[in-house]
Amino acid sequence: MNIILLGPPGAGKGTQAERLAKSHRMIQLSTGDMLRVEAASESELGKQANEIMESGDLMPDDIVVQIVAEQLCRDECEFGFTLDGFPRTETQARALDGIMREKGLKLHGVIEMKVDDDVLTERITGRFSCAKCGTGYHDKNNRPKVNGVCDECGSTEFKRRADDNEETVRQRLAAYHAVTEQILPFYKEKSILRSVDGMAPIDQVTKQIEDVIESLQ
Ligand code: AP5
Repeated sequence: MNIILLGPPGAGKGTQAERLAKSHRMIQLSTGDMLRVEAASESELGKQANEIMESGDLMPDDIVVQIVAEQLCRDECEFGFTLDGFPRTETQARALDGIMREKGLKLHGVIEMKVDDDVLTERITGRFSCAKCGTGYHDKNNRPKVNGVCDECGSTEFKRRADDNEETVRQRLAAYHAVTEQILPFYKEKSILRSVDGMAPIDQVTKQIEDVIESLQ
């Protein structure tokens, strides 16, 4: 099963993609994570990614498309994948179509995660993750079972993202509404667009996504 999770910053795309990776072996392909790895490398591309991500704007389409095309060559993708944070523009959506056609892959569904803007800032500014394995948490909604210890790997070190501040979140949300939301009709026309209530508690969102996946099979 190959799907896209589409939604505003903080909608829960990463949280749910992580769960699908565990429950369905669907590889999580997060362009945000890929760009953060590049940014940490301090390459020229990394410096550009750092600057753009901290401003809350979008990276140029050609760069992101190239990164995703490389990832879709990974053998593990044969078990299925979840695209998290890609595509974000119509150009990216059309490029993805071309790449998938070329590789003989099928896009089964696009799941829109609907969340009101006013809760997104709170979700993002409260977010942190394990510094070792990357598992995501939240100060209020999703704490580790044992305070200060990662549920998955037992690490006691956590980190927060540089772009998780109110000012950048405002710009990320503006980019979502102005650009990314505009690709919904593209997928609606293909009859593969579904939506879930991303305002529900995390387990209930997972259940809704599982139901959608079942209906797409
Ligand atoms: P990216 O890393 O993709 O960030 P984003 O889209 O802004 O999404 P987030 O990762 O912030 O949120 P999420 O939906 O994954 O939420 P999460 O599950 O963590 O992109 C960062 C930047 O990279 C972009 O701004 C851009 O510059 C660049 N970029 C990336 N892709 C690009 C592309 N394709 N083209 C161009 N530029 C690109 O959840 C958030 C918090 O809420 C967590 O703490 C979680 O525990 C909690 N939570 C989750 N679900 C729930 C729930 N149901 N109830 C309560 N709390 C919840």
